[in-house]
Amino acid sequence: MQPPYILAIDQGTTSSRCIVFDAAAKPVAVAQREFPQHYPASGWVEHDLEDIWQDVVTVLREAVGKAGIDVADIAAIGITNQRETVSVWDRATGKPIHRAIVWQDRRTADTCARLKADGAEPLFAAKTGLLLDPYFSGTKLAWILDEVAGARAAADRGELAFGTIDCFLLSRLTRGKVHATDPTNASRTLMFDIGAQAWDEELLRLLRVPASVLPEVKDNSHLFGECDPAILGRAIPIAGMAGDQQAALFGQACFRPGMTKSTYGTGAFALMNIGSKPIPSKKRMLTTVGYRLNGETTYALEGAIFVAGAAVKWLRDGLKIITHASDTHDMAVRVPDNHGVYMVPAFVGLGAPHWNPDARGLICGLTLDSTQAHVARAALESVAYQTLDLINAMKEDANPGDAALRIDGGMAANDWLGQFLSDVLVAPVERPVSVETTALGAAFLAGLATGVWSDLAALEATWAADKRFEPKMSAALRGELVAGWHKAVDRALL
Ligand code: G3P
Repeated sequence: MQPPYILAIDQGTTSSRCIVFDAAAKPVAVAQREFPQHYPASGWVEHDLEDIWQDVVTVLREAVGKAGIDVADIAAIGITNQRETVSVWDRATGKPIHRAIVWQDRRTADTCARLKADGAEPLFAAKTGLLLDPYFSGTKLAWILDEVAGARAAADRGELAFGTIDCFLLSRLTRGKVHATDPTNASRTLMFDIGAQAWDEELLRLLRVPASVLPEVKDNSHLFGECDPAILGRAIPIAGMAGDQQAALFGQACFRPGMTKSTYGTGAFALMNIGSKPIPSKKRMLTTVGYRLNGETTYALEGAIFVAGAAVKWLRDGLKIITHASDTHDMAVRVPDNHGVYMVPAFVGLGAPHWNPDARGLICGLTLDSTQAHVARAALESVAYQTLDLINAMKEDANPGDAALRIDGGMAANDWLGQFLSDVLVAPVERPVSVETTALGAAFLAGLATGVWSDLAALEATWAADKRFEPKMSAALRGELVAGWHKAVDRALL
């Protein structure tokens, strides 16, 4: 018999992708579609759920076609997704009642401020591991119920369903038969008690969300349902789901406490496996579900940087000083040092550990002989310094041991950044052979539930380093650079 394949759907913030993996965890084919972003007001970001759905069906079919495989050889489908983004649909028709409100959307900042002023943040933090920030789903869901005519009454009659994107796709793929999510996505909603692993009535009451709209929460590796045969010509089990950052943690095989990965996309997200206890953070990191297998939860600490690759995109599309993201590598190499130039890319405020929505970006230390290369280098350096701030904050909460930081995502391809990261962290940094770790994590979860892989050890055995960066910088230079960065951040926070 032909060894089985697994399809991983990776529904991200700017594109929807499907990757076909073989049983050796190698990507065999990829299909990808970018989709429009909607900005109806300042700070608002929405996605059309029908665009997302159409694209997902298209990339599923395209990827299978490109791989040239027989659908009979597909063992399972895994789903990973942009987290926190909210969708609400009519249970009878499957039609969304509003465009999805995206994780980046700040429209509920006032609601969060009100809840904070009422003293609710410690309760939310204790139960969910999160902070009261519009980033998370709960206040966005309440906004839809309040603002769409008739929505609250319909929700009270049990006619509406809420879900993050995993849940919406699962519902569509099963023709409305299954309304379920997984603990990683649930843990980003402000409504899920991560210790009890259950939706929490007290939080629902504070957020004014009726329990009737909520999905069931199943283990990450689980037979969620079967894909409608009309899509690929055969009913295929959907057997794994996880939010994209947790999927990357899993795809990087960070299965032991202390193991940490950092994914560099639009933003950057560092997650450290902290084992079976949800350690609360003293340093404004998030405590979140890493994964839940056979009812056993592994927790993670998470630091979220809102701007990483987005700073490079700004160099290209805003400043227009580069043509391709990869140009930053050559520019950084061209200058011997940063010449005292720092960029704090607080374009949308600063995430962890500052959580300051009012901070704004800056470039400082300019002199008449500063060049475009210094600015490009400053953008790359800022990604490393922000990672350092996250890792330092995490170290106050949990012990990372001596494990190397595992990196992935688009920017991880930049060798200069990998080396600089290792230098400022004073720790080894490893990049795996397969940088498709987010999709791979979803494939791993689906493959575990369907017998493609037997256990975590089998998954771990597929992980291999493409490159390992070791720290080389002198302590004096590092100290000087990091001090310069912190001075610049202080100015951005003014
Ligand atoms: O929390 C937001 C994160 O899941 C988004 O990831 O890769 O779609 O930008 P990405």
